[in-house]
Amino acid sequence: MFSSSRLLRLQRLAVPAGKRAIHDLVTPVPSKPIISSGIPGYSAVSGHIVTVFGCTGFLGRYVVSKLGKMGTQVIIPYREEDDKRHLKLTGDLGQIVPMEWDIRNEQQIEECLRHSDIVYNLVGRDYETKNFSYSDVHAKGAQRIARIAAQAGVSRFVHVSHLNASHNSKSKFYRSKAEGEELVKEAFPNATIVRPPAMYGLEDKFLTNMAYWPMWWQVNGGQTTMRPAHVIDVAQALANLMHSTQAPGNFSLPGPVTFTLEYLLEFVQSVAYLPPSHVPYLPKPVMLAIARLAQLPWFPMVSPDELERRYINDADVEGDWDVFGITPGQIEDYALGALRRFRSADNFTRPLVIPPRTSVA
Ligand SMILES: NC(=O)c1ccc[n+]([C@@H]2O[C@H](COP(=O)([O-])OP(=O)(O)OC[C@H]3O[C@@H](n4cnc5c(N)ncnc54)[C@H](OP(=O)(O)O)[C@@H]3O)[C@@H](O)[C@H]2O)c1
Repeated sequence: MFSSSRLLRLQRLAVPAGKRAIHDLVTPVPSKPIISSGIPGYSAVSGHIVTVFGCTGFLGRYVVSKLGKMGTQVIIPYREEDDKRHLKLTGDLGQIVPMEWDIRNEQQIEECLRHSDIVYNLVGRDYETKNFSYSDVHAKGAQRIARIAAQAGVSRFVHVSHLNASHNSKSKFYRSKAEGEELVKEAFPNATIVRPPAMYGLEDKFLTNMAYWPMWWQVNGGQTTMRPAHVIDVAQALANLMHSTQAPGNFSLPGPVTFTLEYLLEFVQSVAYLPPSHVPYLPKPVMLAIARLAQLPWFPMVSPDELERRYINDADVEGDWDVFGITPGQIEDYALGALRRFRSADNFTRPLVIPPRTSVA
């Protein structure tokens, strides 16, 4: 019998880093793995193997599901045993492969991606913890994954950043995202950088949060502008990258309409039949002081940096949806799905009422 460390060494010898796998044998044009088989869909074999770091999050679950539906084998690195269970059902038997990982453990990262031809990095965190700063997660962590992917000979690297990533931002989160983009480009020059805006959908941290905690969104006199997009549109764009020939570059995916926060709060209250908030708009220093106090409970309520971000307008850039062959959906068409659970029993089946877009920027 082999000891576990010997077995590990033998496994590493079997597929040394840098040696590519069977999906590298492709047809000339269009370039398609020759081992692909079956009618495209859940039970087909696309021939691709993909690793999705950050698969256990909000966006990750839709990306994995879309890749699984194409018959792609998806490696899903996870930290917490229960967080990846639902993903197993998004692909056919044996297609969704969970592997435990730690963002600081280079050997585990290499094991997660060495058989893959495409690697997605969706890892991100809205707030800092005692173990991980924004920079650890968005910059150093992203750089580590990109470097190991390049060393292992992975052909495509897709990194998810943020629409507002900027070195000059007042938000530490946005600055760390900009630093991450730069470090990823250094480590993997042909990387694809995708910049989504705030995303809404079932169990999001956007519309749902506005319904739960309207007070935390009553900032800047309601005049901050946002360009939210539907999470499934962003996931589809990422999944389409698997077949796209347009790989390297930076792509922004702002939603189709720019809203003010004031309008979005009114919209959420109207769709969910919630009473208007009675809390007045408070000055920024007071809001920041309350946000600092809100750090005292162990669960993350809102961090001062998250609050700071709500004072920053979404970047006024052209959307690159065309590159992915997608027309982004309208928030009015999807909001009820995300917000109906906030309706009382009396209001549950009442019609959808959308406030006129008078206060839209
Ligand atoms: N949601 C939005 O509105 C939005 C908008 C623009 C950009 N983005 C970006 O899009 C990406 C995905 O967003 P999301 O909403 O899906 O985020 P999410 O739900 O918070 O999920 C984040 C993912 O990152 C992983 N992660 C966080 N910290 C980690 C660490 N220290 N080590 C290892 N894994 C870690 C989480 O793993 P665990 O489950 O193990 O914690 C989870 O899989 C992120 O980069 C985010 O910044 C999101």
